[in-house]
Amino acid sequence: MNFSANYLHLLPKANIAALDLLHSQNETRLSSQKKGILRLRELAESVSHLQTQHLNLDDKVVTIGNADEINKTEQDKLYQVLRSFMPWRKGPFSLFGIDIDAEWQSDRKWDRLLPFLPDLKDKVIADIGCNNGYYMFRMAHHEPKLVVGFEPYLHHYFTFRTLNSFAGLDILQMELLGVEEAGLFSQSFDVVLLLGILYHRISPLECLREVRKSMVHGGTLIVESQAIPGEEPVALFPTERYAKVPGTYFVPTASCLHNWISRAGFTDVEIFCSHAMTSEEQRRTDWMEFESYRDFIDPRNPELTIEGYPAPLRVFVKAINPG
Ligand SMILES: C[S@@+](CC[C@H](N)C(=O)[O-])C[C@H]1O[C@@H](n2cnc3c(N)ncnc32)[C@H](O)[C@@H]1O
Repeated sequence: MNFSANYLHLLPKANIAALDLLHSQNETRLSSQKKGILRLRELAESVSHLQTQHLNLDDKVVTIGNADEINKTEQDKLYQVLRSFMPWRKGPFSLFGIDIDAEWQSDRKWDRLLPFLPDLKDKVIADIGCNNGYYMFRMAHHEPKLVVGFEPYLHHYFTFRTLNSFAGLDILQMELLGVEEAGLFSQSFDVVLLLGILYHRISPLECLREVRKSMVHGGTLIVESQAIPGEEPVALFPTERYAKVPGTYFVPTASCLHNWISRAGFTDVEIFCSHAMTSEEQRRTDWMEFESYRDFIDPRNPELTIEGYPAPLRVFVKAINPG
């Protein structure tokens, strides 16, 4: 499995020297013989010979490979490997006939934002916090020039590598990097998706500024965030956890989120969707056996989290980087 990034020539303004350094550090990390990394790498490599032309990326279920392309022994082996990549947070997928019902029905988020995306054909796109790449595969259907996924967690990184070793889509590339490094891709992206990230950042404003550095002048930002209800431009800062999640810092109202984005230097800031979360959209499945949304909410009052905070909305915003 080759880890080096061979697409940077498509991004002439990126800080190639700094990225080369990070890539070589990541190469060393990925080649490590540490048990956890070795196991993920071996899992990914054990099925990387399975390749297919049969893709359906324009449907709720991202389909890569049909059941009749591999024999029973290969399918049993693949099933074990895919089970080892649990928990599956984002999906659904169908992989050579194996159906993966992930915790999130990610197609619902995709359907909400798709009408607000610019034409993706020939665009250079970043999906920051891309998890296993579900939205990257959905975007591939629209023929972008390149989609770069940012994902610092090895588990998600190797899950994506495995999926894309089947699909062989060179236009999809994943970086083992966080949003903190986005600015190194200076003036590179026509479109940036920043979905489910801001409330996990200690400084949402700095995060947005870093993202802006990575965007071309006139580029489109799509933000999706947890939010609390209310008209005032304020944010909740939980004592410790919000809906049981420890790494949650500022949970804004929609107008607060709007203000963050415009004060980070974006223009044409438009809130285009706001909806309550539900335990149909995020739930425990056979492929994610831990607690899920239902367990995060007060069983006596669905408008409160288990800690007594307002239950989350999800708010979507579109904005332009004026340059
Ligand atoms: C709440 S999930 C959102 C996933 C996806 N964007 C979505 O909306 O469905 C947050 C994702 O960000 C990743 N992540 C964690 N730290 C990050 C960082 N510093 N920069 C970028 N992504 C990060 C997590 O591993 C996870 O995949």
